[in-house]
Formats: sequence, structure tokens, C-alpha cells
Amino acid sequence: MSEEALRSVDLRKTYHSRGTPPVEALRGVSIEVRRGERVSLLGRNGAGKTTFLKIASTLLRPTSGTIEIFGEDADRHPERARPYIAVVPQEGKPFFHLTPREQIYTYLRARGIGRETAKSRCEAAIAQMGLESVADRLSITLSGGQRQRTMVATVIATEAPLLFLDEPSIGMDPFARRGVWDSLKGLTRKGSTLLLTTHYLDEAEVLSDRLYIIEGGRVLTAGTADELKRSLGGTLKVTIADGRGLEETLRSFGECVADGGAVTVIVDPSRLRELLDFAVAHEKAATVGPVTLEEAFLRSVGRSINDE
Ligand SMILES: Nc1ncnc2c1ncn2[C@@H]1O[C@H](COP(=O)(O)OP(=O)(O)OP(=O)(O)O)[C@@H](O)[C@H]1O
Ligand SMILES: [Mg+2]
Repeated sequence: MSEEALRSVDLRKTYHSRGTPPVEALRGVSIEVRRGERVSLLGRNGAGKTTFLKIASTLLRPTSGTIEIFGEDADRHPERARPYIAVVPQEGKPFFHLTPREQIYTYLRARGIGRETAKSRCEAAIAQMGLESVADRLSITLSGGQRQRTMVATVIATEAPLLFLDEPSIGMDPFARRGVWDSLKGLTRKGSTLLLTTHYLDEAEVLSDRLYIIEGGRVLTAGTADELKRSLGGTLKVTIADGRGLEETLRSFGECVADGGAVTVIVDPSRLRELLDFAVAHEKAATVGPVTLEEAFLRSVGRSINDE
């Protein structure tokens, strides 16, 4: 098996619908995911994340460019790529006339997994996703979050080498989300590779070795969460409660954002002491915190929107 789980080169997709102008959903996306890696695609609504995952999971054909799954051309030979992958699609729903237990077991059997293994993996996935009390109810009777857990449980149980998860924890309560995180981390420890999308940036940070930010069908930036934060100029933010009149000096420490009278400065840890001394000298209250991935995301996408 190739060490590279996924490689796309200059992938493009234009949707054509009758009577409306074509939509360029992907405009040259090159992404690489190594075996065993956990990678997230972040991006605003309509950025192209789902389109990318659909092409990578052989559900949609690209307009141009190439996509390989474990070295197999997923566009020309989808049947060779498919055994490697399992997908939680965006807004997917379990079969209403099956119970979670039936759905998970049946899906594993359809993938060619033997009876005993299917049974034990099914029970493990039900427990991991906290579905015990509803496992024998028809899916139509489940709550939204329970249905989503069933979808994730079904895919987790496959232990497929490459898992695509499009907003896997949408609608789940905070406990269930943590259950998803633990299960997915467990799978990558066993050797699976993950490519997921999420709008929860805390989730992206917990789950990803690397992230790609997609904007307007292109890769805007890529890197680890720390690298994305450092691209703002620092990993710490210092808020000076009343920073009016001090902006010029504060700007020499890093990028500043004014919010009412307060000024927040993004600063490298190496300059923190100097900045706090400056605040103290001016008798200003200052609070220090880490830059979040959400801030890094808002800034880098925000800058790109402003540039247009
Ligand atoms: N079948 C389709 N026909 C025409 N346009 C489409 C189709 N599917 C998606 N699009 C358009 O392609 C672009 C990318 O959509 P996509 O679903 O990939 O975005 P996304 O990043 O997954 O967004 P979200 O975060 O909202 O799920 C959007 O402008 C969308 O309206
Ligand atoms: Mg989507």
C-alpha cells in the first residue's frame, strides 16, 4: 500500500446547471495526505470542501486534474479506490427502516467483512458512540444527533484505511462530540487516515495534524494549527482594556484590533514581557491569552476577502 493516502493535483470542478451560469467550485486544488495522518479542510460555506470530498470519494467526477487514493487513480479506476475508503457524507441519514445495530452490521457485511468480526466491531462502535439504548430502534425514531452518531458509528466500524468525514459531529452534544474525537483518534492509532471538514475549530484543532483552509475553490493556506496561528504574527494575544492613544506603539508589537476602547495585540511570546512592561508603565490593565485557531481562520480568510 502506498505511503500516500491521498494526492490531488490541480483538481478543478465546474458545475453546469441548466439556465444558470456555471459554478467553479474547485479552481485547482492540490492536497496531499500521508498514511496515518489526520487532516482537516476548513473554509466558509460554499468554499468547495464537500465538492472535494465527493470527488476524492469517487462520488463525483472532476472537470480536470488528478486524484489518487493510495496510488490508485480514483477518477479512472474508482472501483480500485473504493475498497480503501468509507464516507460520512454531509447531511447523510441512516436507513429509516433499519435499526442502528442492523445498519452497522449490514454495511460491514456488504463490505465483505466476516460475520464474527462484523458483530464485534458493530457492538464496539455502538458503545463508542453511546448508542446502546437506541441500537434496536428504527432509525426513523431517533433524534437528529442520534442519527448522526449512527452514521459516524457505521463508518468507524469499517476501520477503512481512509475515512472521509464531512462535518461528522454536526448536531451532536458536547459529550457525543468527544466520543467522536476519541474514536477517530483510536482509529488513526490503528493506522487509518482521516480527512474531515468541520466548522467547529476547536474540533479541527483537537483532531488535525494538519489543516488546509479552502477559499473560493482554492487552497488559501495549509499547515499545522500552530503554523496557521503564527502566520498572524504571534501565538499570544494581549488585550489592553483602555488602549486609546497607545495604538502607534502597540502596533510596533504586532497586528492590532481595536474593539471599543480596548486594543488587542497579536504578539510573539518573545516580546510579551516588553509589552506588559509597556502596559504597566501606562497603568493599563492587560489580559494575556492564546490566539485561537478560529482567530487565525477569521484573519486569514478575512484578509483574502478584503484583497479581492
Ligand atoms: N450540484 C451542484 N450544482 C451546482 N452548484 C453546486 C452543486 N453543488 C455545489 N455547488 C456549488 O459549488 C460551490 C461549493 O459547494 P460545496 O458544497 O463544495 O461547499 P462547502 O465548502 O462544502 O460548503 P458548506 O460549508 O456549506 O458545506 C458552492 O458555490 C455551491 O453552491
Ligand atoms: Mg459542505
